[in-house]
Order: sequence, then C-alpha cells, then structure tokens
Amino acid sequence: MLITAHRGLSSVAPENTLAAIQKAIELGAKSIEIDVQISKDGVPIVFHDFNVNRCTNGQGLVQDIEYSELAKLDAGLWFSDEFENEKIPTLAEVLILIRQNGITLNIELKVQNEAHILALCKQVVEVIEASKITTGQLVFSSFEHQALLLLKRLKPSIRRSQLWEKIPDNALQMLDDIYAFSVNCDYRFLRQEQALIIKQAGYQLHCYTVNDPLFIEPLRPLHVDNIITDWPQRF
Ligand code: G3P
Ligand code: MG
Repeated sequence: MLITAHRGLSSVAPENTLAAIQKAIELGAKSIEIDVQISKDGVPIVFHDFNVNRCTNGQGLVQDIEYSELAKLDAGLWFSDEFENEKIPTLAEVLILIRQNGITLNIELKVQNEAHILALCKQVVEVIEASKITTGQLVFSSFEHQALLLLKRLKPSIRRSQLWEKIPDNALQMLDDIYAFSVNCDYRFLRQEQALIIKQAGYQLHCYTVNDPLFIEPLRPLHVDNIITDWPQRF
C-alpha cells in the first residue's frame, strides 16, 4: 500500500506550501498530493480553498486575485509562528522539488468555476511541459469529470484519477470515458462490493483522508492501493 502525503506534510507544516512539501520529502514520502487552481491572471498556484481567508492573512476569492497579489500573502502564520513568511507556491515551484527528488505528485485540479476549466487545464499542462518533468511522476485528479476528460485530450500521457466522495452507480462508464488510472474516494463511504467492482475492472483504488492507522485495517482486505493522509509519519 502506497502512502500519499495530503497537501504535503500538512500535519506539521502549513498545507500546500513548499515547507509542507519539503517536510514530506524529508520524511521519505514517495507520493505527495497538492491542490491546484488558477489566479485571476491564469497562473497555476497550489492552494486548497476557493478563498484565501482560512490559510493566509488576506481575504477574497482566489479567482479574483492576480498572482502578483497572491504572492505577497503570508500562507504560514495561520498555522504557526514558525512558518511566518511562507508563501502560496506556484505549481512550477513545486514541480522543481518533485523533479529533483524523483517522487510522484498527485495534482488535484480544483475547479472554482466551470467557465475556467479550459484555462485551468491548459495552464497546468503548459507549466508541466515547461518543467521538463517525467510525466510518469505525475497523476491528475479531480472531482470535476469534465476536467479529466479535457486532460485526456490535452496530455494523455499523464494518468488520471477520478475523485468521488461516494462512488456513483455509473462509475465504470465514467472511468472508461477518461481511461482512468484510479478511483480516489472517501474511505468512510467505500463499500466492499464497490471496491471489488473497481479492482476487478482493473483500476487502482485510493482512499482519502485516512489519518488514524486503525481505519486502514478494514481497507486492507479491499486491496486499497494508496492511502492519502495528513499523517504519513503514522503509517
Ligand atoms: O485527493 C484527495 C483529497 O485531497 C480530496 O479532497 O478537499 O482534501 O482536496 P480535498
Ligand atoms: Mg486535495
């Protein structure tokens, strides 16, 4: 079972920052998940929420703020004084670290607004191509099926993971549509018969966000391939 550090090592450093990614690498993580969206001027940045209120000293929607302004925000102080001056990283900055360390990066595309899907996917692919990273080091994931469909066209060599909270009844059709690599689902809602169907169809099964090692035990007989966790150091 592979372990993926969720938003970097987000239990010990502010989520989705270079510090959190560096800490995950130091811990020996082989796989890291980050969230990506675009600024008002189309720069792919690493950030989870659609507004900057919780994780920075700023306010407002990411989609309304230009990158030059996002770059000024403090994205560490909300977590602890130790991380004062930590910034919102760009996807390009994260890819440098990932490339240097030869590990896997799960790039979760966050779609704030359906009108932005094309711009988001195009900009992300452009940054990846400019980074010269090996595409085998990358996986795209998204709750937004349309984004994965588009990425299949724009960059077919990068694997695609469909994110769901609960696996829907038409899962196999949707997975076939995107030539999926895996299903990434909320472990709390995963049922044994669903796991069996997904695995028998040849897809990997990844579960988020498992933070207590006790909860991993029922997932083992389901042949879950990957656990996404804020606490990889516990596993
Ligand atoms: O990739 C799994 C997980 O990150 C999906 O949910 O909200 O933490 O991005 P969220
Ligand atoms: Mg995520």
